[in-house]
Amino acid sequence: MKKYYVTTPIYYVNDKPHLGHIYTTLAADVIARFKRQDGYDVFFLTGTDEHGQKMDKTAKTKGVPVKQFCDENTAKFKDAANTMNFSYDYFIRTTDENHIKCVQDIWQKMMDKGAIYLGKYAGWYAVRDEAFYDESEIIDGFAPTGAPVEWVEEESYFFRLSDYQDRLLKLYEEQPDFVMPEYRKNEVISFVKSGLHDLSVSRTTFSWGIPVPNDPKHVMYVWLDALFNYWTPFYNKDEPQSFWPADVHIVGKDILRFHAVYWPAFLMAIDLPLPKRVFAHGWWLVQGEKMSKSLGNVLDPLTYVEKYGLDYVRYFLMREMPFGNDHSFSHESFLTLCNSELANKVGNLVQRVVSFVHKFANGVVPQAKFNDSDKATLLESYAVVEKMRMHIDKQAIHLAFEEVVKLANAANEYMDYNAPWSIRNTDEKRMNTVLYTLIEMIRVIAILLKPIVPTSSDKILDILEISQEKRMFDMLNAENAIASDSKLREPSIIFPRITE
Ligand code: MSP
Repeated sequence: MKKYYVTTPIYYVNDKPHLGHIYTTLAADVIARFKRQDGYDVFFLTGTDEHGQKMDKTAKTKGVPVKQFCDENTAKFKDAANTMNFSYDYFIRTTDENHIKCVQDIWQKMMDKGAIYLGKYAGWYAVRDEAFYDESEIIDGFAPTGAPVEWVEEESYFFRLSDYQDRLLKLYEEQPDFVMPEYRKNEVISFVKSGLHDLSVSRTTFSWGIPVPNDPKHVMYVWLDALFNYWTPFYNKDEPQSFWPADVHIVGKDILRFHAVYWPAFLMAIDLPLPKRVFAHGWWLVQGEKMSKSLGNVLDPLTYVEKYGLDYVRYFLMREMPFGNDHSFSHESFLTLCNSELANKVGNLVQRVVSFVHKFANGVVPQAKFNDSDKATLLESYAVVEKMRMHIDKQAIHLAFEEVVKLANAANEYMDYNAPWSIRNTDEKRMNTVLYTLIEMIRVIAILLKPIVPTSSDKILDILEISQEKRMFDMLNAENAIASDSKLREPSIIFPRITE
């Protein structure tokens, strides 16, 4: 079986999850589900990033022991993942014993290879970003991200990042899809071309981190600890290479530098194969502005789930924002998109066709005698999955599902054009063929929509009595078409119109 490995960033648990976290994991979930339905053996990894100064400080401000604080917030991330129906295969916590062992082992390997040396750091650090900044990057006393910075001077271990400039540039050239989208790759390349400094990878002024082997007054820099989460599930396993390296790391644009520069350099240092791709998505904004607690404009997707239903939220987040770009969240667009694409195009089609079959064809899939145009319509429906594969392989999630919307349009047009109601008394055979074609198109639509709206798709496929194992993409062909004479269940409303 072909393997596929997809990851999300691991999230800081200094607060409960918000739209940004949920968005990133949702994208990975849709890709993971798509690949599983396409016959791949998928490994989908997510989790929490629990060490570092930010966690330590926040827990202290709250007056809670830091591990307890991590446990409480991690539970909220797991709850949110369940609410969102995320199908992860492994949930990693950087406080897990096997992760700590794994990273200490990696550290030792880096030491043995001479990739790490002891020195002294003097420079800027932003706790909010958990990032070191060069003097030249500081703007009016702040990090380029707007985060406050503090001056740090301490003994520190360094990773020889400066040794990797040429190898990294070669990587971007030889593996042109390593960083996507393209325009973000150019940002990465110019950052690397501008010259790389060795990276401070340990701290001594606090202790909430993984102790450096043989020098426990140092804890490891949280990003070194965090990035190796992607390797931990395979550490000390018999066949680690079966999923390694990742096919795609899904990350937000704000953490691209860590994934596209530091991460491959770390892997090169210990001779582990490099990931195939790092894809950086954009940010959800509110009226063009960044969401932030201080602005009070932070959106909680879970209240939307409660109010409108999970599948609408999953669908909207993936369809509305071109994956890669920034985009403003708007309540009006939420209503418009869900109503126009799911309620009017898909829900309504299922309702009309299945009710009609119950009224005028005994609730049974009728016999068909296709003309050339019916045959062409069905062949085009079966071909949609191939277009979707091409989009998903470029992480163009919004475009992949636009193909299903086009198919739903085609089905509605087919229905209006062939108007089965108008030939009910004059040409029953033709009416039956038209109904059969429509039911078959609904089967295809429901199977294709399953990665993004799994519960609703399953409801449609239940109505059509399609068994679980027949919901895979290799069933999208004439050989596996729905059988005539099989019974349909009574229709139920799958995508109710949202009115306010
Ligand atoms: N812990 C690090 C990642 C370590 S990965 C080895 C981290 N965590 S985070 O909790 O701050 O955020 C993780 C993700 O949430 C990022 O990919 C980030 O882009 C995403 N988002 C945070 N706010 C966002 C929006 N407003 N919109 C979309 N995603 C954004 O960084």
